[in-house]
Amino acid sequence: MPLSENWTYKSHHSPYKPNMTDKLAPIAAAFQEALSQATHTKELEAVKVRFLGKKGEIQALLVGLKDLSGEEKAQVGKGINELKQSLTQEIANAEARLVAQEEQAALASSWIDVTLNPQGQEAGSLHPITLVHQRLEEIFEAMGFLILDGPHVETDYYNFEALNFDPHHPARDMHDTFFTQGGRLLRTQTSPIQIRGMERLKPPIRMVGTGKVFRCERLDASHEACFHQIEGMMIDKGINVGHLIHTMKVMLSEMFEKEVEVRLRPGYFPFVEPGYELEIACLLCGGKGCAACKKLGWVELLGCGMVHPNVLKAGGIDPTVYSGFAFGMGTDRLAMQRYQINDIRHLHNGDLSFNRRFSTASQYQVY
Ligand code: DAH
Repeated sequence: MPLSENWTYKSHHSPYKPNMTDKLAPIAAAFQEALSQATHTKELEAVKVRFLGKKGEIQALLVGLKDLSGEEKAQVGKGINELKQSLTQEIANAEARLVAQEEQAALASSWIDVTLNPQGQEAGSLHPITLVHQRLEEIFEAMGFLILDGPHVETDYYNFEALNFDPHHPARDMHDTFFTQGGRLLRTQTSPIQIRGMERLKPPIRMVGTGKVFRCERLDASHEACFHQIEGMMIDKGINVGHLIHTMKVMLSEMFEKEVEVRLRPGYFPFVEPGYELEIACLLCGGKGCAACKKLGWVELLGCGMVHPNVLKAGGIDPTVYSGFAFGMGTDRLAMQRYQINDIRHLHNGDLSFNRRFSTASQYQVY
């Protein structure tokens, strides 16, 4: 019997001794029996109530003490208390064991393999914009560019001021900006990544960043209030327009998987000087002129130029020692060309029949 060995009761004269011994031993035995059958915390709780509860067996013994004389009360009471302590301890041990067992069982039964394809459903797919960004990042990584990221909610400083937009310059009007009540704004371009990158890196710098940008646009087949860009920048001693043209040609030829002819026309962006609009010979007619290029033979694709000295200074770089080029390109239209999507709004409206076109099977066939 699991009673403490301390519990001894030797008086042969007490009329109560046989009674109490008779009572304690069966209770201890019954407890062992009940405990061994409790295989769940709920059952254990019932055992606890039965033996240690307010109306339980131990309590009944304690109530019975009042009929004993002083000395007997002390001795028998001690025995009951020891029994109570021993039962309490055994309950606690069993509880710890059962709780652990139940947790294990719950974990085992609720485990799911998140890598499995959903049964009876098609596998998901990456969004066409994501695919284009991943491909662009791959191309630039191969040329030793770092991939950077930046916040969507920006300050005026990063989105405009450090990029050489004067507070009242009309160039700001071209960026229909969403402002927050706290005086911040949704970035209208990925160019703030240039400043954030320069703040953290030392030249030579090669970096690109892709992501969402926001402008308060009127929506139509080719305009969305949220669209995407890739931004890039290279800074070192002696960087010139030749480096810019070469890098753009590599990017576009890799992207379109064919030699792409480019030309530069002057374009104004406050953060580059000189600034350019880069055009590519129309991919459909090869530059001869067709409906897609409005018979021009050339298609405007991106903005670029040599980084303005004020921008280098804002990034903590000495413009008398270093020079650099930068470029920024919308990637929604690139994705639309790549996947022959005729309306930009498809990219955001979450229509499954559209998204399914980019499921795993078609993902790889495109590049
Ligand atoms: N941030 C410009 C825009 O959204 C695009 C751009 C033009 C980025 C020229 C550049 C650049 O880095 O050099 O219109």
